[in-house]
Amino acid sequence: MSAAPVSSRLPVFPWDKLVPYKSTAAAHPDGVVDLSVGTPVDPVPELIRRALVSAADSPGYPTVWGTEALRDALTGWAGRRLGAAGLEHANVLPVVGSKELVAWLPTQLGLGAGDKVAHPRLAYPTYEVGARLCGAEPVAYDDPTELDPSGLRLLWLNSPSNPTGRVLSREELTRTVAWAREHGVLVFSDECYLELGWEAEPVSVLHPDVCGGTYEGIVAVHSLSKRSNLAGYRAAFVLGDAAVLGELLQIRKHGGMMIPAPVQAATVAALGDDTHVAEQRARYARRRTVLRAALEGHGFRVEHSEAGLYLWATRDEPCWETVAHLARLGILVAPGDFYGPAGDRFVRVAVTATDERVDAAVERLAKAVSA
Ligand SMILES: Cc1ncc(COP(=O)(O)O)c(C=O)c1O
Repeated sequence: MSAAPVSSRLPVFPWDKLVPYKSTAAAHPDGVVDLSVGTPVDPVPELIRRALVSAADSPGYPTVWGTEALRDALTGWAGRRLGAAGLEHANVLPVVGSKELVAWLPTQLGLGAGDKVAHPRLAYPTYEVGARLCGAEPVAYDDPTELDPSGLRLLWLNSPSNPTGRVLSREELTRTVAWAREHGVLVFSDECYLELGWEAEPVSVLHPDVCGGTYEGIVAVHSLSKRSNLAGYRAAFVLGDAAVLGELLQIRKHGGMMIPAPVQAATVAALGDDTHVAEQRARYARRRTVLRAALEGHGFRVEHSEAGLYLWATRDEPCWETVAHLARLGILVAPGDFYGPAGDRFVRVAVTATDERVDAAVERLAKAVSA
């Protein structure tokens, strides 16, 4: 057996390639402004922390399906926030952060050699990783309804998109769901930035206008990492087709893929409160506005970016030249080719740094223009 039978199927872990640029940026006298990974930096809201602490005395095993209270919170939130009518407990499943689900879903669906998993041409890299982990073939698309459906078992949608911030319209989603159902292709729609629309109002695949009020063949993926600053808690969930989720539940029970009980309690609190989501949105809105203006003033063009936590920006040059240029200003960003070769002239700028760091970046971008 090869010493690396599975990991050799996977791409190089992209963030390792950024390390030298991080050193350059860190040498800036006023320190690095890290706009690369997009990790939340603002405090966990007080009511969520209180719920976590109140559930700290949890000596027993949690269940994979979660508490009744958690399942009620998931169906209630999806009805209220996504317009998903009539969801029952059989239509929900908590997961240990959505990255885990994305990476292991094709394996848990029993996919393998000869099967295809499709994802947007510019995409969060874990869709491809998930396909490769089980030996399926990843296929990139521009318009999913133009894919060859033969052998296609799983179709990933992502709206709002990481990295571009593009939002799929109601019409695009409806057309895609109809196409997938016609061809018997399972749709998983990653909607983890849905509550962060700026110039667009993102719509869930579970909205009755899109799915016709039935969840057959469709599942939406949601995460509390960004909307509630809970990336450190690993709190996410999927909603939709009961048959698919029932199968995943069986497998995940055998695999012990449980959310810790205090995190389940924290999730219930987070989904029951809209105030902290609005406060966090306001922080990101301000950072996004000033960063966008500073990038444009510095000569960047920003494309899409109408939702989510990233500015998709270009100076019409190879992305690594832009990464190097910004690293010399002490600003670290992600090269667009991390998200597919089609991104090789863009960089992804996260708006997830503190106000103080964002303002430092804005000042450096302005100074470098006038210098
Ligand atoms: C599109 C997309 N899906 C899923 C995730 C994973 O999020 P988490 O594992 O924190 O729920 C991310 C994280 O950045 C993402 O951008």
